[in-house]
Amino acid sequence: MAIYNLKVNGKAVEVDADETTPMLWVLRDHLKLVGTKFGCGVAQCGACTIHVDGTSVRSCSYPIAAADGTEITTIEGLSEKGDHPVQKAWLEHDVPQCGYCQAGQIMSASALLKNNPNPTDQDIDDAMNGNICRCGTYTRIKAAIKTAAGQGDLS
Ligand code: FES
Ligand code: FES
Repeated sequence: MAIYNLKVNGKAVEVDADETTPMLWVLRDHLKLVGTKFGCGVAQCGACTIHVDGTSVRSCSYPIAAADGTEITTIEGLSEKGDHPVQKAWLEHDVPQCGYCQAGQIMSASALLKNNPNPTDQDIDDAMNGNICRCGTYTRIKAAIKTAAGQGDLS
């Protein structure tokens, strides 16, 4: 076990964990932030996507040792009132079905738009390719990303 210092959703936190503990379990078990979901556990589905220093990362396969000193954003910290442009577009397009994959989808989409505010269809396909939805909401996800593109502050 070791002590790690990081910033999660704008708050400094100290976590005592084994160096190999995936960030997914640090978030869910140590910090009680359960918006980030466990899907496959092997970086294949995207359900556990978070931002590490602004880049989207699969938290199930990202050890706490690699996150030491970084800034982490989870779905809980994406916006204060659930009003990030991507979240608003998700509502407008009524994207979720069961909802299980959606936090990860939103985190991938928001990272895409932060780095590329006007993505092409191909850019969207490439960025969202690793986020699997068993309910098949892909068409609405793409429409919502296009709606959110270019709107407001995407930080
Ligand atoms: S749970 Fe992390 S990618 Fe599937
Ligand atoms: S909305 Fe059900 S898995 Fe995507």
